[in-house]
Amino acid sequence: MKAAVVTDFTQPLEIHDRPIPPPGPGQVLVRMEACGLCHTDIHAAHGDWPAKPTPPFVPGHEGVGVITALGEGVTNRRLGDRVAIAWLGRACGHCGHCVSGWETLCEEQQNSGYSIDGAFSEYAVADATYVVPVPDAVSSFDAAPLTCAGVTTYKAIKVARIRPSERVVIFGVGGLGHLAVQYARLVGAEVVAVDVTEEKLALATELGADHVVNAATTDPVAAIQALGGADVAVALAVSEKSFEQAFASLRRGGRLVCVALPPENEGTMTVPIFDTVIKGISVIGSIVGTREDLAEVFRLHALGRTRVIAESRKLDEVNEAIDEVLRGRTSARLVFEF
Ligand SMILES: NC(=O)c1ccc[n+]([C@@H]2O[C@H](COP(=O)([O-])OP(=O)(O)OC[C@H]3O[C@@H](n4cnc5c(N)ncnc54)[C@H](O)[C@@H]3O)[C@@H](O)[C@H]2O)c1
Ligand SMILES: [Zn+2]
Ligand SMILES: [Zn+2]
Repeated sequence: MKAAVVTDFTQPLEIHDRPIPPPGPGQVLVRMEACGLCHTDIHAAHGDWPAKPTPPFVPGHEGVGVITALGEGVTNRRLGDRVAIAWLGRACGHCGHCVSGWETLCEEQQNSGYSIDGAFSEYAVADATYVVPVPDAVSSFDAAPLTCAGVTTYKAIKVARIRPSERVVIFGVGGLGHLAVQYARLVGAEVVAVDVTEEKLALATELGADHVVNAATTDPVAAIQALGGADVAVALAVSEKSFEQAFASLRRGGRLVCVALPPENEGTMTVPIFDTVIKGISVIGSIVGTREDLAEVFRLHALGRTRVIAESRKLDEVNEAIDEVLRGRTSARLVFEF
């Protein structure tokens, strides 16, 4: 099988021929149909974060495909099931976080495409219990971006506890942001989208944003404060500065939801204590979502409530695709189809 492999943080990925891995006990073998390119895969390939993966490894955590083999003891999946391989590759299942609906915080978790090989590969093995079934009404092409970009922003909107009519600002209308705009609309918010390219802002408008701000030409803080300030700001842009702008755009009682993960050397945000206290501001970190959150994301999509904006690529084009994302040239998501 073909797999895209990170061999060194400073080198392009290499396409390797590898034997198809046999599923171990409790695992399934998945024949990949589609896998999205999340910006996290780029951070992984470049070793951007403090906790680094160990090359060689295969990125990819928006994998969707069909189960072609079952490992020993697997009774909860069947051959032919279509499933998603998400960032949460495995968790312990019994710690306080796991049993209280916060498996995404499990200290023992393994992450697909990071600590274990992911889905930039014609076949991948995955934990049978942590793959998430994809409903028939959701295509593999659409399911791929929903598997990380979708579930992550759906969860970010959930933890922000938005009431209908609140003003929500989405900073960054990329893979994550184009879905965040839609989930914010679904909970009844007035939506403001901020990006640095006109194409992304036009897309945000098409997806239902009520206002757009081009942060490359306009100060987003002034523009949002002129509207009355934001109740919620969701930080999805890979830019330290945009986190501080997101904070400064809040009104009293506001919530900043931190989601993007800029590289280590630009990963510090300064928050003024005085404003945080006086304005009663909350700063919330949000990491992906649970299997149940992803099931909800798929159900919403099957109901026709969301649209995935993506372009198809071949796995051989992985390095060109990474360049396109870094240059901000893509529509919203690039998806490798196998
Ligand atoms: N917390 C989580 O669970 C989680 C999950 C997935 C991804 N992420 C992280 O979220 C970030 C975004 O991922 P993505 O796949 O959506 O990336 P992306 O590259 O598809 O989108 C980023 C968007 O931000 C825009 N942007 C860049 N600079 C900006 C600025 N200064 N102001 C406003 N917009 C700006 C870009 O034009 C682009 O549209 C990455 O750091 C990724 O690692 C976090
Ligand atoms: Zn656990
Ligand atoms: Zn991701």
